[in-house]
Amino acid sequence: MKVLALNSSPRSEGQSKTGLILNHLVKGMREAGADVEIVDLRKKTVKNCIGCFTCWTKTPGVCIHKDDMANELYPKWLESDLVVCATPLYCFTVNATMKAFIERTLPVLQPFFAQYEGRTYHPLRHRHPKLVFLSVAGFPEDSVFDQLSAWVNFIYGHNDLLVAEIYRPCAEALTVPFFKEKAEDILEATAQAGREIVESMRISPETMARIRQVIVEDDTSFFEMGNLMWKTCIAEGITPNEFGEKGLIPRPDSIETFTLIMPKGFNPEAASDITATMQFDFFGEAQGSCHIRIDNGEIEAIEGTAENPDLTIETPFEVWMDIMTGKADGQQMFMEERHKVNGDLSLLVRMNQLFGKIARTPFHVSY
Ligand SMILES: Cc1cc2nc3c(=O)[nH]c(=O)nc-3n(C[C@H](O)[C@H](O)[C@H](O)COP(=O)(O)O)c2cc1C
Repeated sequence: MKVLALNSSPRSEGQSKTGLILNHLVKGMREAGADVEIVDLRKKTVKNCIGCFTCWTKTPGVCIHKDDMANELYPKWLESDLVVCATPLYCFTVNATMKAFIERTLPVLQPFFAQYEGRTYHPLRHRHPKLVFLSVAGFPEDSVFDQLSAWVNFIYGHNDLLVAEIYRPCAEALTVPFFKEKAEDILEATAQAGREIVESMRISPETMARIRQVIVEDDTSFFEMGNLMWKTCIAEGITPNEFGEKGLIPRPDSIETFTLIMPKGFNPEAASDITATMQFDFFGEAQGSCHIRIDNGEIEAIEGTAENPDLTIETPFEVWMDIMTGKADGQQMFMEERHKVNGDLSLLVRMNQLFGKIARTPFHVSY
């Protein structure tokens, strides 16, 4: 089977979630014996269709443009048994690059009007390759793909052209270390989908359910984490990509978000021998207390004071956030008495080990 896999994301390899999913689909397809070529459309020139209908009249089947589409991609598209159209979801549909590509496949049609079951169509000039649509979105709910899917089915849902639709919401979470296990299962399921498509021209419901499994159970905390990330980017004047490259963590802006983030950075292996409660008494930018209970590798972060904390840290909120996000050195802050500590100092010494997980790993994992 000859497969052309088109990725229309403008983002580079390593950044594009469309590319991440597509690479796994292609891996599975190749394992099942398909001959697959991946094309990054961002590296190609595909001019917009200018609506001249030259391809329907003066030079039937041949576009007026002389660009990568005319010279290279359209001939490859025509020769393929299957084309994977992989696009980021932009404004709830394919992005402009993919749309431009699809519009430029007009020469495959003849100009004549025909009707079937009350619907007007143009007859095919050549054999049309079968299609798989793949898209990724930022928002977490499945319904973000409703418009795209309706459109895809309207134009390609006939004559057995449409082999499968693979839609992955909440795709940016795929590279967040905290969701690594689920991400690996989703990517492995996508490779499985690739094998299934080549072997049987369909994706089983089990595989599809694994691809579409919920990554983030709790939308509210996901939004809070996301919003903190955006606030950190704005404050630092950096893009999300630079945020990932620098291995930053979202900077908590309240005691509530501090308790949300601390468990995400917890490293259970470093805590197997610890049963302890640490209390934070904050003043300055945010005022109030919260405590963290560690027991047998489990962690719980709770707002308010604890009964008998093993360690109490009294600190300006902003100083602790600077330490936590790597902007200030904890030891130096301690020497300068920017924060006070009471109780078991060995816990303070182990803080980096216990909570270094998100700080040590870049915020984005790559596969
Ligand atoms: C211009 C633009 C429009 C977007 N529109 C949507 C949208 O309508 N719905 C959505 O869930 N995500 C939307 N997103 C988010 C992308 O779909 C998401 O970040 C995706 O992971 C990008 O894929 P990529 O990494 O392959 O480029 C949009 C992003 C951009 C830049």
